[in-house]
Amino acid sequence: MAKVVILSGAGISAESGISTFRESGGLWEQYDVTVICNYDSMQKNESLTIEFYDKRRADLEDKEPNYAHDVVADLKEKYPDDIAVITQNVDNLFEKAGLKHEDVIHLHGFMTEVRCQNPECNKTFDIGYKSLYDDHNGFCLTCGTRLRPNIVFFGEAAPMYEELNEHIQDCELFIVIGTRGNVVGVNTIAQYAQRSILNNYEPSPAIEDALFSKVLYKKATDAIEEIADEVETLLGSK
Ligand code: APR
Repeated sequence: MAKVVILSGAGISAESGISTFRESGGLWEQYDVTVICNYDSMQKNESLTIEFYDKRRADLEDKEPNYAHDVVADLKEKYPDDIAVITQNVDNLFEKAGLKHEDVIHLHGFMTEVRCQNPECNKTFDIGYKSLYDDHNGFCLTCGTRLRPNIVFFGEAAPMYEELNEHIQDCELFIVIGTRGNVVGVNTIAQYAQRSILNNYEPSPAIEDALFSKVLYKKATDAIEEIADEVETLLGSK
C-alpha cells in the first residue's frame, strides 16, 4: 500500500479552467444535482443527464493540465509504488500530464468513458470527447442496452472507494488538494495518517483544518512545490 496518498478534488483542476462544484458560480449552483447526477437521473431525466455530461465531455477537449497536475504526475512516475494518486475528479488532466489511466484512481468515474446500463454487461467504452449518442446512437455494442456516462451519481455504489480505504491504512503522508470535503470524509483520514497536508484555496465548513499537520490556503499551483518537498523528504530519504 502507498506511503503517500494524494487525494484531489475539483480545486486542482480549477486553474485549468474546469468548474468546481460548490463554490460561488460552481456547477451545482447552475444545475440541479438531483436532476442530472442522482441514482435515478437516467430513468427520470435521461436526455438532460446525457446532455449535461456530453457538454462537460466536449469542454474537456481543450483543457490542459496545470503545474499542480504536472508535479503530482512527476512524483508518481518517480515513486510509482509509494504514491497513490486518488482523485474525485472525472477529468483526464492527470492522464494528459503523462500518467497512465491505471495509475490514477478515479473515485467518481471518468468523463471520456461511457458504460452499459445492463448490470450483466457493464462494459465501458472510451468515446473521447464525443457525444454519448455518436457511437451506435448511444447503445452498447455488445448487448444493445442504452449507454450512460461512466460517472458515479449520488446514491450509487462507488467501487473505487475500496482502493482509497486500502491505501489510507498504512498512509504516512496524506495530502488533500482542492476539495471541500463534502463527499470524502477527509477529517477522519487525516486522523489516521501519521502526517497530513491540506491545500485548498479557502477554508471549507466541512473540513476541520486543525486535524492536519500543515494547512496551505492558496492556489494549488502555488502550494505544490512545498507539497512536493514534503514528499521528497519522506520518500527520497528512504
Ligand atoms: N487551488 C486549490 N484549491 C482550490 C482552487 C485552487 N486553484 N480553486 C478552488 N479550490 C478549492 C476550494 O477552496 C474548494 O475547497 O477546491 C474546492 C472545491 O470544492 P467542490 O467544488 O465542492 O469540489 P469537490 O470537493 O471536488 O467535490 C467533490 O462532489 O459533486 C460531487 O462528484 C462531485 O467529485 C465531486 C465531489
